[in-house]
Amino acid sequence: MTVPSPLNDLQAQYEALPYPPRDPRDEAIRLITGTPSHILEVNHYLFSGRLNFDRPFRALIAGGGTGDACIMLAQQLAERRCPAEIVYLDLSQASRRICEARAQARGLRNIRFATGSLLDLPSVDFGTFDYIDCTGVLHHLPDPAAGLRALSSVLQPDGGVGVMLYGEYGRSGVYPLQELLRTIAPPSMPVEDRLAMAKRLIRFLPTTNLFRRNPYLNDHVTGGDAGLYDLLLHSCDRPFNVPQIGALAQQAGLRVVAFLEPVRYEPATYMSDPVIARLASALPLLERAAFAERLSGNLRTHVFYATRAGFDTVARPEDTSAIPVLREMDAQKFAAGLQHGTPLVANLDGFPWRAQLPALAARIVAQIDGRRSVAEIYTSLGALGGLPRWEDFYTQFEDLYVKLNGVNHMLLRFRP
Ligand SMILES: C[S@@+](CC[C@H](N)C(=O)[O-])C[C@H]1O[C@@H](n2cnc3c(N)ncnc32)[C@H](O)[C@@H]1O
Repeated sequence: MTVPSPLNDLQAQYEALPYPPRDPRDEAIRLITGTPSHILEVNHYLFSGRLNFDRPFRALIAGGGTGDACIMLAQQLAERRCPAEIVYLDLSQASRRICEARAQARGLRNIRFATGSLLDLPSVDFGTFDYIDCTGVLHHLPDPAAGLRALSSVLQPDGGVGVMLYGEYGRSGVYPLQELLRTIAPPSMPVEDRLAMAKRLIRFLPTTNLFRRNPYLNDHVTGGDAGLYDLLLHSCDRPFNVPQIGALAQQAGLRVVAFLEPVRYEPATYMSDPVIARLASALPLLERAAFAERLSGNLRTHVFYATRAGFDTVARPEDTSAIPVLREMDAQKFAAGLQHGTPLVANLDGFPWRAQLPALAARIVAQIDGRRSVAEIYTSLGALGGLPRWEDFYTQFEDLYVKLNGVNHMLLRFRP
């Protein structure tokens, strides 16, 4: 297997090594869910939680690869009986075949498959889209801005995108190794030999090497040969920082509305000095996120939602008809685990995050069923006795919401 050069290097890579590697037989045992493009997130961040699933919805999965986002979104829309159409587009036929087999294994009929470049979207008649997913693709294009502009050109005026791009600081160590490998394992070498050389290099890195000192870079461990190739031997790969993402979005007529997980993009997460934390927390979204990125230094990827709409598209808890929804969590089990006083903890790629939850946390979580609104949760707590004053309840709900939404556990929706 030899990767031809140069224009089609990228296409050839994904024909030879579809990424990430997936086995369609696994669809029988699990649905891979992730971010962006989880339907609860798309609804919350881009449609104010007010999507009506009785209405047609069109999504494009641009550079769909082996299908994680495509299969997740198609399954979630099918479960909601939404008259949706999802267009899967990728350069790689091998990747498409895997995604097609996964869709077939699930009996999904709401996906239309296409092979081609997202750069050609303005001239191909796929129609327009309410939502576009583009995960792990734009940073591989020679001109990422042209890629995002091509996507934006087929977006509905009030539509939005969910994008994942590589992060500059969190990937420190990757780019010097890519350079080394260009010298000792150039693209003219067969893929197997390049992979062997990369493995040899990693095994013998000096202790001072930046890649070796960044233990959170693990695609080459979790993703096998395809992961290793993607990480260190890619023909085209450039990372982004938050200000660059803001500029990229703006050039495409888009506005970033959220970075995920939100807590990772809040300076106060990493800063215990109250003066600095307060100053940084008062900044607007993009500046705040840039501050957090520079401070943490560990954001390997950036997931963001951006919209073309000129109005606020993010669901807010101030409207108490908002319905809190827990993501892939059983409310009763979660509530049972929330002992009074026990903080919520998470490991943010090496940063130990902990949040003290309000006293009512377990009682509120136990009432979340994806159907009751915030106001109705208050009423049902009352029926159980010991009703707190509305102001106390709401203050605690908001505190709980900020913390659970921060780590992507809680999202909001509204009745259409
Ligand atoms: C790293 S994979 C990511 C796949 C998928 N989005 C995911 O996150 O699992 C990148 C994919 O983008 C595709 N791709 C790269 N450039 C493309 C382009 N110009 N148009 C369409 N697909 C492209 C590749 O073929 C590959 O399948």
